[in-house]
Order: sequence, then C-alpha cells, then structure tokens
Amino acid sequence: MNSEELRKSFLDFFKSKGHAIVLSSSLIPDDPSVLLTTAGMQQFKKYYTGDLDAMSDFKSQRTASAQKSFRTSDIEEVGDKTHLTFFEMLGNFSFGPVGSDKPDDLGTDGYFKRSSIHWAYEYITKVLNIGLDRIYVTVFEGNDEVPFDEESYKIWHEEIKMPKEKIVMGNRADNFWGPTGDSGPCGPTTEIYVDGVEVWNVVFNEYFQEKGGKLRKVENPGVDTGMGFERLLSVLQAKESVFETDVFGDLVSKIKEQAPSLENKENIVRVFADHLRGSIFLIADGIRPSNKEAGYVLRRLIRRLLAYEVKYDIHSNFFPEAIKIIKNKFVEVYPELNNDKIILDVLEDERTKYQEAISLGAKEIERLNVLGEKITGAIAFNLYQTFSISPEITLELAKNVDKDNFQKEFDQESKKHQEISRAGVEKKFGGHGLVLDTGELKAGSEEEMKKVIRLHTATHLLHQALRDVLGDGVEQRGSDINPERARFDFLFNRKLTADELKKVEEIVNEKINQELPVRFKEMPKEDAEKTGARKFFKGNYPPTVKVYYIGSEDDILGAYSKEFCGGPHVENTSEIGKFKIIKEEASSAGVRRIRAAISG
Ligand code: SER
Repeated sequence: MNSEELRKSFLDFFKSKGHAIVLSSSLIPDDPSVLLTTAGMQQFKKYYTGDLDAMSDFKSQRTASAQKSFRTSDIEEVGDKTHLTFFEMLGNFSFGPVGSDKPDDLGTDGYFKRSSIHWAYEYITKVLNIGLDRIYVTVFEGNDEVPFDEESYKIWHEEIKMPKEKIVMGNRADNFWGPTGDSGPCGPTTEIYVDGVEVWNVVFNEYFQEKGGKLRKVENPGVDTGMGFERLLSVLQAKESVFETDVFGDLVSKIKEQAPSLENKENIVRVFADHLRGSIFLIADGIRPSNKEAGYVLRRLIRRLLAYEVKYDIHSNFFPEAIKIIKNKFVEVYPELNNDKIILDVLEDERTKYQEAISLGAKEIERLNVLGEKITGAIAFNLYQTFSISPEITLELAKNVDKDNFQKEFDQESKKHQEISRAGVEKKFGGHGLVLDTGELKAGSEEEMKKVIRLHTATHLLHQALRDVLGDGVEQRGSDINPERARFDFLFNRKLTADELKKVEEIVNEKINQELPVRFKEMPKEDAEKTGARKFFKGNYPPTVKVYYIGSEDDILGAYSKEFCGGPHVENTSEIGKFKIIKEEASSAGVRRIRAAISG
C-alpha cells in the first residue's frame, strides 16, 4: 500500500462508520497558546468543550482527518528512523453525548471506548491485514488522580480476546494525553504497537485540564485518536525507517544524487529531507522566517539546511527541485502547495539573509577547520559576537569541536562579556594602587602615565591607519595599554602581509611627524554619531560624550582620526615619539591583534 492508498483507506473506513471527513487544518493553529498544530484534535477543541456543535457543522458527531502536524519537541531526535518535525496524523474523533457505543452502530452520534477500540483493531487487522502476532497494546494503569482504565482493559481482553500478556500497563507519562496549549481536553489512552513501534494513540477525553493543571471530569467524554502516518507506512512497507517509505523516497534519492558527500551519512540525509519538507509545508501555510515564535522555528529549519548545503557541498540549486518533488507528491491532498513560487521566493530570500549574516563567519570557521583548530565555546562566542553566527550553526560547520565544554564555555564568555560591557569606558583613576586605570590604560606612576597616554594617542592613529590600508571592515574589538606596549584587537579576517604592516607603521609615523593637534569636544551622543567618529562596538555611552579628534584644531569632520573616547591623550602627535609594530597575530576567530611600542 502506498501513501495515497493508506490515507484513502483510513478515511474510507471511518466514513463507512458514519464519520464526516474533515480537511486538515492549517499548521498555524487558532489557539494562541500553541505555536503550531501538533495534533489532529487541535482543530476540534471547541467541539469537545461544547462551544461548537459538530452535528450542525459536520452533520455528524464523528469526524476523521489526515492532519498536517509539526512538533519541535523531538527536533533533536530527527535523523533516527522514526522522528520527524513535520508529519501527518490520521485520526478519528467523537464529540458530544455518547450514543449506543456499539461498533455496529454506523450512525452519526457520539461513541466512546468500545467502538473506538473495536474499530481500531478492525482497521489494523482486517483492512491492513496485520496479524495479531505483530501487535501489543497498552492501557493506563491509574494514579492518585485518575483511576486504572479498567473499561479499556476489559474491552481488549474480554471482547477482542487480546491475550493478557499483550496488554501492557502504562503510567501517566506514557498513557495519558494532553492537553495541547495551556488548557483543554485530555485523558487516558490506549495505544497500539506494531512490530514494537507505537502506531496508534487512542485518547479518551474524559477530563478537561484547567490552566494551572487542575483536572475536572467532563460531562460528555470524547474520543481523539492519532496514528502516525509515516510510521504506519514504514511498518506496512516493511521499511527500516520512515525515510524509505514512498512519502520520502523521491526526495531522499534526489538529495543523495545531489550530494555524493552524503554517502553513508544517513542521519544527515534524513535531517535534510525532514527539514526541507517541513519548511515547505510551513511556508505553504503562510509562516515566514523571523526571530520569534513559529517564524523562528522555520528560520531554524532553513538555516540548518543552508548550513548543511555548505558543509556537505549540496548543490545549491536544489530548492526548486525539492519543491517540485514535494508538490507532486502531496498537492492533491494539500492544495496550498500550489504556492510553489512563493515557497521558493521565501527560501531564497532567507538564503540571502543568511548568507549576508554568516558568509564571513563561515569562511572563518572553514579557515579554522583547515588549520585543524578545535572550536571551543569561547571561539564560538566570538563568532557569534562578530558574525552573528549562532552556536548551533558553528556546531554544524565546525569540524573539530570541544563538545564537552562547549555550552558551558559559551555561556561563561557571554557572561564575562556582559560584565565588561557594563564596565564599559568607565574611568577609574587611582584604583588598585594605579595612578591611571581606565580599564584600557594602566599606569602605576606619573612617569608611566605619560608613556601610556602617548601610546593611547598612537593607538588612535593605528586604528585609522589600519582602516586606510585594510578598509572600513576594520573595527576595534579591544585595546589594552600599559607602559611597555599597546595591544590593539580588531576585526579582520586574515593575517596581515609584511607589506601591509609596513604601510600601517609608515602612516602612523607620518602623522606623528606632521605634528598634528589632538583635541576633543563634548557633545550629545547623537551629534557625536553624526561626525562618523569610531565607537567601541559594545560601548554603553552616556547621553553626553567626548569625541577625540586628531589633525585639526576645530573641524571634527575634516580630522584624520576621530573616536568616542574618555581620554586622556597628548596635545600634539609629535609628543608620541617613534612608533613601531612589534607583532601581529590572531587573537580569536576573525579578530587580529597588534602589539606596538613607542620610543624616544
Ligand atoms: N492527540 C493524540 C496525539 O496526538 C491522539 O490524536 O497523540
């Protein structure tokens, strides 16, 4: 049986039992307390509570559907044989007052445990022809709040003749379902396993869970069943995993064809196939990548796909192909897939945004990969600071990762960074026995202070000279000055050449020889920003700031160097003396470090 036949056979079966067939609802739920549609019952919540009347809307108190569903709870499991983010769920439902609850009652009134269990068993064994030897079931064992589901047990054992050893007791975690969202219908379940795989969850909504968790018994109990479509298919088609069934077959073969590097990387192929299909369905229902809620879920899926494209060299023209395959396979059931052009636009648009954000960072990771460097949490934090590469993406792209300490170190760095930012450009004269301690400048005596101040002005010149030679991408990432040397960290992606270093040094010395004035003006932060003065990227500046500028008495805009800075500085560049670069090296990912000294 292929997927189209299975869907049809399920719906036909329940139609023959008096059920109205209801189309799948959107993946965007009505219920604002849930992010995405996670189960077939969600669109029917109001029929269980009596707020809506199934008889007037569907001409039956019984419905059945094949429902698009999406769960983020198992996202880390995707890649194994059974877990998916997006999946379909086959389900039958009953609302309102229970009628005869006899399996041969093919009318339209509500039913409960007897009919549900008999029909489920009939469908599995008679329609799908699965033998009893491959089946076992579970029943809720009871706890303090909710009693043992004896009724279901008896139906299985006494009416269906299920042997006792095939009826397994399950606890609250395994055999009690719901609610979705912050409140709603819920109750004990009985579940059917085939070949050890859970395929059908039959829920008896005898309770309503209030916000806060309190359960109350409902007047009209309902039925909510859900059968994992892809899992059932894998059982029927005797496939090892859901990815080998016909719902995934073409997509998976195409991925393998496009990316020979994925040979023997079955789990990556599976994640790729799952996320691609999931993204397409989310977009088709109107979700757009963003930084919050469902949009963020979508963004995470797509960005993982894009990271994999780079990492595994998957042909980048693959999205149109994939959309075509998914559309062909599902459009008859889910006509929203006719939006294939929009779907492609959304994917490509996100690709552009992603590439802008991370291309530099990805290159940096690639460079570190080539060097065989271990990517630590601290490096990942730096990549995040510098290139907006999330730690997840770093983990995807990095070849060599210190997995054990990764998250801990990332968090530590992040905390440290917050503290540094808070300290900001605060000046602390006299702290720790130092004559001068601004955080950036440290001197223990008057004499040392003079030297440090000269180095400080030299650092401003160095910053501008680096921009002159290497371009506007150069941005200060750190500065630390003591009487021996200035240490300056800045954003740049590779080692500087000897030639570049020489040029930078020459420019600084030229500015020193020109005997340029060094001045500052205090002004509102907004005005300072308009001057184009360099700002420390994480500085928390007060409403009024000082801008130090070099090369002009009065004209900030025309000055050679200008920076937000608390000072202090020399009055004239001639006081600096001779400037020399001592060393250039990597400080961390994407950040270079120069040490420089002065003499004379
Ligand atoms: N709501 C239950 C589930 O999602 C049965 O449909 O498993």
